[in-house]
Amino acid sequence: MPQEIEASGADRIVALVLSVLREETGARPRVTVTWAQTATGVIAAAGGARATISGPESMKLTHRLRALHDAILVGIQTVLADDPQLSVRLVEGSQPQPVVLDSRLRFPRTARLLARADRKPWIFYRAADPSDEQELEKRGARLFRTRASAPGLDLAEVLRVLAAQGIRSLMVEGGAKVLRAFIAQGLACQAVVTVSQSRMEGVPGPGIPALLSSVQESLGPDAVLWGRVAAI
Ligand SMILES: NC(=O)c1ccc[n+]([C@@H]2O[C@H](COP(=O)([O-])OP(=O)(O)OC[C@H]3O[C@@H](n4cnc5c(N)ncnc54)[C@H](OP(=O)(O)O)[C@@H]3O)[C@@H](O)[C@H]2O)c1
Repeated sequence: MPQEIEASGADRIVALVLSVLREETGARPRVTVTWAQTATGVIAAAGGARATISGPESMKLTHRLRALHDAILVGIQTVLADDPQLSVRLVEGSQPQPVVLDSRLRFPRTARLLARADRKPWIFYRAADPSDEQELEKRGARLFRTRASAPGLDLAEVLRVLAAQGIRSLMVEGGAKVLRAFIAQGLACQAVVTVSQSRMEGVPGPGIPALLSSVQESLGPDAVLWGRVAAI
């Protein structure tokens, strides 16, 4: 008799995320908002310094989730604070397209995102010096000029442009301002939040949005919450 293999907590979260991504959608990409926070909702050390919040099991889950999405998006403050690669490294899987919101093209020429050989970043911006545009394009970045709409770039337009580029699913990974904006504008379909037991003073996260349904799993020392975000 074939042995039944019990799904792990991480497998269950992956299955839930995938089921939402597979739902029939309109023209817009499906958006998953995801972050790691302490029990009190802190997502970065004081002053924005990089801090490891989640344990190895939830880090691995984050990479599995990245591989499920066509693109992964962060705000420029996260690039400046963390210099992330936004790649899938801890598991086998396809590499999502890195996307950055950066109204004034503050994107550093030395960013690790520009050093990636496989996928160069797509940067959404509003206005910049032509020499800055040329510098970034020379390094392989693709620039999308976008109109603004408080609190920053017009997210509906960003999503429209991404859809036109063939992006059907988007993982928004931070930081707090960008996550808050996607949630406040009703653009997120689902949330995956890693809640660690670590204690730290620092930058408050976006806060867990109203959820229509949710599941919580233990992953090593962390709890991982998945939820379908209530439409606004
Ligand atoms: N724990 C985690 O899971 C996690 C994940 C990621 C980041 N982080 C932490 O988060 C911190 C950064 O977060 P943050 O809130 O300061 O910055 P952020 O969300 O990374 O970036 C915010 C910036 O993005 C730009 N932006 C453009 N359009 C926007 C829009 N429509 N809505 C919001 N922002 C828009 C704005 O800069 P311009 O006006 O210049 O365009 C804005 O100041 C870092 O310390 C990082 O370590 C934690």
